[in-house]
Amino acid sequence: MRAPSQNTPRVVSGMRPTGKLHLGHYHGVLKNWVDMQHDYDCFFFIADWHALTTHYETPQGIAESVEELLIDWLAAGVSPSAATLFVQSHVPQHAELHLLLSMMTPLSWLERVPSYKDQKAKLTGRDLTTYGFLGYPLLQAADILIYKAGLVPVGEDQVAHVELTREVARRFNHFYGQEPGFEEVCEQAISKMGKKNAKLYRSMRKAYQEQGDSEALNKARALLEAQQNISIADRDRLFGYLEGISKVILPEPDAKLTKASKMPGIDGQKMSKSYGNTIGLREPADELAKKIKTMPTDPARARRTDPGDPAKCPVWQLHEVYTDEQTHDWVKQGCITAGIGCIDCKQPLIDAVQAELEPIRERARRYENDRAYLQTIIDQGSEAAQEIAAETMAEVIKAMRFSR
Ligand code: TRP
Ligand code: SF4
Repeated sequence: MRAPSQNTPRVVSGMRPTGKLHLGHYHGVLKNWVDMQHDYDCFFFIADWHALTTHYETPQGIAESVEELLIDWLAAGVSPSAATLFVQSHVPQHAELHLLLSMMTPLSWLERVPSYKDQKAKLTGRDLTTYGFLGYPLLQAADILIYKAGLVPVGEDQVAHVELTREVARRFNHFYGQEPGFEEVCEQAISKMGKKNAKLYRSMRKAYQEQGDSEALNKARALLEAQQNISIADRDRLFGYLEGISKVILPEPDAKLTKASKMPGIDGQKMSKSYGNTIGLREPADELAKKIKTMPTDPARARRTDPGDPAKCPVWQLHEVYTDEQTHDWVKQGCITAGIGCIDCKQPLIDAVQAELEPIRERARRYENDRAYLQTIIDQGSEAAQEIAAETMAEVIKAMRFSR
């Protein structure tokens, strides 16, 4: 595991192990993780407890999916030497922090999270009037806060969960970040930064507190990040002091919105397991060809000689993701004039998806045959995660003066 520098923002994200991944996950999430792993201190984990909130009747299935999910990640290029990869339930501190946070989180905060109502309405057939399901976003908050993440890459649907995380962190800091003599300690810490920086800090703090200048707030934070001669505890205090409240024990993370994947499924709707329109990340070559060959096309092209309109065809949507300009021109021209048939049109698409998936399948095969290696990745990653999680828990308990 690469030793991250103090200034590399930490990224935390998780995925529930609920079955094999498809191209929607690849284009929407995994490619993004692969890009981020070299620029940030990334913690990616398999959220098996979260899967249990909806699949509590079949926990064995979750356990089986854990390794499969890891294989999918690795095959897609997520690397255990660049990011810390682990399993949520192997780091019990997530549960411990969740429990403590549950004591101070108002029920109404959880009840108003939009995904709670939506999901409960959508997943009929399952009894989700459970304690665990209501607490889903709070467990997610614990996942994030236990690593003091700065950034959480998530899709649109998860932004509310990051927002809840911020509110919970703020509440925690407000309750437990108050220290006797806080102001004096902060003033002393400021003077340790040296005359010039101390002056800068004070003026930016003032600009933020008196004029709400958020630019100044950001600059002051950057100034603190760059300080070498103050302790981490002092820096955390001075972060809190900027806003005039209390010491920051659990920093508020930001959501890093992954732009909505426009990955269409083989029927033109968004690719999703629930629509049964997916192409798997490890889809065998012949299945892949069959799926594309049987895709519906513009209904106006009942015969080869009937002209069509790509705008009305799901095949075209996949072309937009997978093929180049030149092919696009060829498709548009050929479709409108009936110059090409739909079978012709699909071939370059099959080739392009095939070319993307072949190396992924190849890597997946290697991992499928090396279960011991998968176990090593999980063990090492979980151990590294535990180390940091244990540090945060110690600080949390100390701040709460709830020591054992
Ligand atoms: N709720 C997320 C999802 O369904 C998974 C998740 C669990 C997560 N804990 C997290 C994502 C922490 C980001 C950070 O996709
Ligand atoms: Fe769709 Fe291509 Fe057939 Fe046109 S030629 S209808 S874009 S498959």
